[in-house]
Amino acid sequence: MKEEIEKLLAQVNDLKCKTAKDVEEARVNLLGKKGEITKLFEEFRGYAPEMKKEFGRKLNELKQAATAKIEELRSQTVSDASPAGKADDLSMPGTPYALGSRHPVSIVRQEIVDIFRKFGYDVAEGPEIEDDYHVFEALNFPPNHPARDMQDTFFVSAGHPNPILLRTHTSSVQVRTMENMKLPIRVICPGRVFRNEAISARAHCIFHQCEGLYIDEHVTFADLKQAILLFAREMFGPDTAIRMRPSYFPFTEPSSEVDVSCNICHGKGCNICKGTGWLEILGCGMVDPNVLEASGIDSKKYSGFAFGMGLERIAMLKWQVNDLRHYFENDFRFLSEFSTATEV
Ligand code: PHE
Repeated sequence: MKEEIEKLLAQVNDLKCKTAKDVEEARVNLLGKKGEITKLFEEFRGYAPEMKKEFGRKLNELKQAATAKIEELRSQTVSDASPAGKADDLSMPGTPYALGSRHPVSIVRQEIVDIFRKFGYDVAEGPEIEDDYHVFEALNFPPNHPARDMQDTFFVSAGHPNPILLRTHTSSVQVRTMENMKLPIRVICPGRVFRNEAISARAHCIFHQCEGLYIDEHVTFADLKQAILLFAREMFGPDTAIRMRPSYFPFTEPSSEVDVSCNICHGKGCNICKGTGWLEILGCGMVDPNVLEASGIDSKKYSGFAFGMGLERIAMLKWQVNDLRHYFENDFRFLSEFSTATEV
């Protein structure tokens, strides 16, 4: 036993390892379950008490020496693996990290806000969780209008005279603005809206709108047309033409839908404009006198126009992304395509 202990002690003292793997191997060979030192301890257990006295201390010393050596070698291989000193060189360039980019819907919203700011419009915001009054009632929706159906609107609470719901359009912000702001009013209201739609490439239950409202004395349909034309030219280029088609909204009369000339084929017809040369971008009209009166505005003295557009729709036309779901999945590969657009 004595020679064995001395032999192993010499082996421990001479132990050299290059890698962490070598250190682990040495540890297993010496101190592991079937290691040399472990074996000696097993042998030792069967010795008579006076022999135990003789070898016990030496055996413990061997175990301690082996443990300390393994620790020492382990710390050496770890410090070898790290580039000692390099991190302390403050003159080295830093490690660059990738910057995020803005979401395409945010880019479009900012562009719209910038354009209308130039025309003197403020930005107004309102709650996403609204009541029936601000989303429907004050906007001249008849009580049995289909938009008030559970199939079209997400209700938070129903069964009382003024149910709470997720706003289906940003027109509710129009109402809040008319209630709270002094006349004349010139605002745009960008925001998120919710509709109970099955999710597909062309429809989503969440999307974004930007609504505009202008109220003053003597505001006419010609003013509306001019505002939309100027906006379209700023947004889609100076050669852009618009056309207005009669339409219907409960809160505007007369109402119109607006198309812009296709900026991809320039009117020749392509698959984006489905061969028509025109792209639908927004709904608009003169604010219905009932809507003005509901918010306490004298409809004999004041008139106004409103318009509303879908931000995903504008982004789709701008970048030809034809699946709405891309805007909500936040797939990094999709989002990073807009990183250069951030600098614009
Ligand atoms: N709120 C309408 C919609 O969601 C859009 C609109 C706004 C139309 C303002 C006319 C005037 O479709």
